[in-house]
Amino acid sequence: MPETPATPRKPAVAAGDDFERFCTGIADLVGIDLSLYKRKQMERRARGLASRFGDGTLDGYLELLRTDEDQLDKFMERMTITVSQLWRNNEIFEAIEKEVLPQLNRNAGVRRLHLWSAGCSYGAEPYTLAAVCLEIRDQLNRLPTIQGSDINPHMIERAKKGFYTDEDARDAPKELLEKYFDRVDDGWSAKSELRQMIRFKVEDLFAAKTDGMDLILFRNVAIHFERERRDRVHRILSDALLPGGMLVLGSTEMIVQPAELGLERVRPFVFRKLADPLTQPDFP
Ligand SMILES: C[S@@+](CC[C@H](N)C(=O)[O-])C[C@H]1O[C@@H](n2cnc3c(N)ncnc32)[C@H](O)[C@@H]1O
Repeated sequence: MPETPATPRKPAVAAGDDFERFCTGIADLVGIDLSLYKRKQMERRARGLASRFGDGTLDGYLELLRTDEDQLDKFMERMTITVSQLWRNNEIFEAIEKEVLPQLNRNAGVRRLHLWSAGCSYGAEPYTLAAVCLEIRDQLNRLPTIQGSDINPHMIERAKKGFYTDEDARDAPKELLEKYFDRVDDGWSAKSELRQMIRFKVEDLFAAKTDGMDLILFRNVAIHFERERRDRVHRILSDALLPGGMLVLGSTEMIVQPAELGLERVRPFVFRKLADPLTQPDFP
């Protein structure tokens, strides 16, 4: 008699429960709630990493991440949650240098400009922004202040160190890299004139109290967010801008209906805050 196939045993833990536990653990460790990102992508990546670097289970991998800071940093990078680089997508920094900052400066008069790299990871973006400002310091009435914020305290610790590897600097224009960073053994260290311009802080954007900003760089942070969450954070950032201020997104990102947020698109990935969205939709 053919053997009756054994009824597949129900797993002790319903599929997905271990992922939810994993998300809670990661939120406790670094403040990021992975369950708010697109689940399919996040879960696939997390399970892949657990097999590669851990014992194959999410519980075991979480335990490893709790005790090994290097593994935790690698995990965040590999989830592409913290990936960054100096002069990332340099065309946007060229536009900021040639068009955005000069225009903001004209509108501000003698007032100092306030710039914000929101979701700055380990700081490559705000240091690049500081270098761009210094490059055109003659055209600016005053040197701007720059705020770099991230929800992940490990990233802010690294950002404060201002050290970047050759890999981080792979797309940086050589003469600017050498002008604003010191060559150290195996990488690049931000010069003090850059450091003086930037203040870093740990902050969840959804609880951000920041306002009065002239320019916000919000790039490659919301790409894994669910739609509702992405819309919510775009509104928070729009509210943080002064009238005429600019919001810069990453090169694959967009705002479908900017007018609803009091914004207008001025070039790909760049949005301007309307002076008064109710009465003046065509801000000059
Ligand atoms: C891929 S990095 C982007 C870094 C930089 N903006 C760039 O484009 O190179 C995304 C960063 O967003 C941060 N982040 C994600 N959710 C956040 C939140 N709710 N509040 C603040 N930062 C957040 C992550 O910790 C991560 O460091």
